[in-house]
Order: sequence, then C-alpha cells, then structure tokens
Amino acid sequence: MNRIASLFEINHPIVQGGMVWCSGWRLASAVSNAGGLGLLGAGSMYPEVLREHIRQCKAATTRPFGVNVPLMYPEIETLMQIIVEEGVKIVFTSAGNPKLWTSRLQAEGIKVAHVVSSSRFAHKCEEAGVDAIVAEGFEAGGHNGREETTTMCLIPAVRRATSLPLIAAGGIATGEGIAAVLALGADGVQIGTRFALSKESSAHANFKQLCLNLNEGDTQLLLKTLSPTRLVKSPFADAVKEAEQRGAGVEELRALLGRGRAKKGIFEGNLEEGELEIGQIASLLRQEESVAEILSDLLNGYQRAVEKLRAGVFVC
Ligand SMILES: Cc1cc2nc3c(=O)[nH]c(=O)nc-3n(C[C@H](O)[C@H](O)[C@H](O)COP(=O)(O)O)c2cc1C
Repeated sequence: MNRIASLFEINHPIVQGGMVWCSGWRLASAVSNAGGLGLLGAGSMYPEVLREHIRQCKAATTRPFGVNVPLMYPEIETLMQIIVEEGVKIVFTSAGNPKLWTSRLQAEGIKVAHVVSSSRFAHKCEEAGVDAIVAEGFEAGGHNGREETTTMCLIPAVRRATSLPLIAAGGIATGEGIAAVLALGADGVQIGTRFALSKESSAHANFKQLCLNLNEGDTQLLLKTLSPTRLVKSPFADAVKEAEQRGAGVEELRALLGRGRAKKGIFEGNLEEGELEIGQIASLLRQEESVAEILSDLLNGYQRAVEKLRAGVFVC
C-alpha cells in the first residue's frame, strides 16, 4: 500500500496544494471526491471565512480533505482553533517552523504535513515529528525557497535526509511527471498549478486564460529579499524587477507590494496591477479542465509512463 494513500486514507497519493485565492471548498471537495486529497487554502481566508469553507467542504464530500496553513498567518491561534473545532483531521503547514504547531495539532488527532524547500528543513520536520513532508522545488507556483533548488535535485536529497513519507511538489502536472518523482524517491505528489487553472478553482477567468497561454520562460522568481515568489511577467512584475535591479530596500519593496496584490491578480483578474502567481509548468497547460478530467489524465499518464519504462531499451 502506498504510504501517503494509507496515511491520509485516500485512493491516489495526489494532493492538491493549498493555494491562496484558488482552493476554496469547490476545488478541495472535487479533488477529494476524485480520490485525491483536496486542501483548503487558508492563507487567503479570514478565520470565519475558513470556517464556512470547511462546512461547505464537509457538505460536498464524505472523503478526507485538509487545510493548508501558511504559518506567518496573522491570526493563527484563531485559525487553528477553528480547524480543531470543525473537526478537520489533516493540516498542511508551510512558510514557517514546523516545531511551532505540529505537536499541538497532533494532540487533537490531526495529521500534519509540512512544506520544505531544502533537506535542512526536512531534518527540522523530523525533529518536529511531522507525519509527512512536502518537498517543493523552485519551479513551483507561489512562494519559493531562497536556494532555488529544483525538484529534480531536491527530492533525492530530501529522500536521503529522511525516511518520512515524502510528497514531491513543483513542476508536476502530468502522469509522466508523477512517475519521475516516484523514481527519485517520493511517495506521492502535490500539484498546484494544474489545479489552479481547473474549472473548480476560484481564480478569475482572466488569470486562468493568461496562464493557459504562457510559454517557457514567462514566469520568474522575484521578491527574493522579502519572500521569493514566482510571478508571471507583467507590468507589476516589471515594476518589482526594476526596483530590485536598482537595489531597492526591503521597505520600498514592501510599499510597492502593498496589500491585497495577490487577490487583485488571481481573484479579481487585474493582469496589470495584480500579483500573478503560477508555476513554470503552466507552459504545458492549454485548456481549463475539470478536476475529474485532470485526475483521470494523471492516472492514465502514469500508467503510460510506467509501461514505457518497462519496455524501455535504456540499458542495452
Ligand atoms: C496561485 C498559487 C497560490 C499558492 N498559494 C499557496 C499557499 O497559500 N500556501 C502554500 O503552502 N502553497 C501555496 N502554493 C504552492 C502550492 O500549494 C503547490 O505546492 C505548488 O503550486 C506546487 O507546484 P506547481 O505549481 O508546479 O504544481 C500556491 C501555488 C499557486 C500556483
């Protein structure tokens, strides 16, 4: 039995990453209903909004689902209290120290996975006693590791560093990609970009259309001194890049970013002024699909890849 599937009691070890402004109850419940693990993205929700999404998700699926909590969330105590009160059994933490919340959540019967971008942080996860690790390469959409380690290099390094159940993330959008990271030592995958552009994602149609037309090289990692973020090239990204190139300090960058930029871009579809977060792998995606179509394509692609490798002539 697959370790991720048995840990979370799901059919397929495919996690839909928690994503600000994309992963509300519609997306999370659709992924869970299709046999994967859907995650609500608490990072863009006020505590009571999260409560509402948890309730809607419970009404829309009887399958396990979870909540992603970026640990720099301002009202984290209230948010975690709601997660416990509402009986959520799976939490994926990110962007912070796994020691802060892991044992408190586990004491409530919650399984905890933590997102890392280096094997050094994988060690911290072991010390914190997490149930699973998500190792995310810098191809990924959203906030990234400073070291810019790619999934191809990160997964074998984290596999060597820990024996914990390991979920690979970053640049995976096909069954072939799943086969590749399993070969590198992962037990399961976390996919963001492909689900962010699905029919059930709450991202704005403008954002989805833009991302579905991207080519290789159309995203870049910016804001390295604040919090490295992969952004689509756009007028706002150009302004950030220009400021960074002339050596703007953290305060100036923070002022330029202001508040609500990601909401403006991803949720309101303002392609000029918004922060447009998406992964490199968007360049492979060309149409908006339903979650059921995505899951079926991933599983078929995985089978194809395995058969191809089995019949392969690499070793002559
Ligand atoms: C629009 C967007 C928003 C994201 N927001 C979050 C977030 O709030 N918390 C988090 O841990 N990861 C976030 N991520 C990262 C995803 O959960 C996932 O790990 C990543 O997208 C996987 O790489 P991929 O984009 O190549 O599939 C976000 C990604 C995207 C594309």
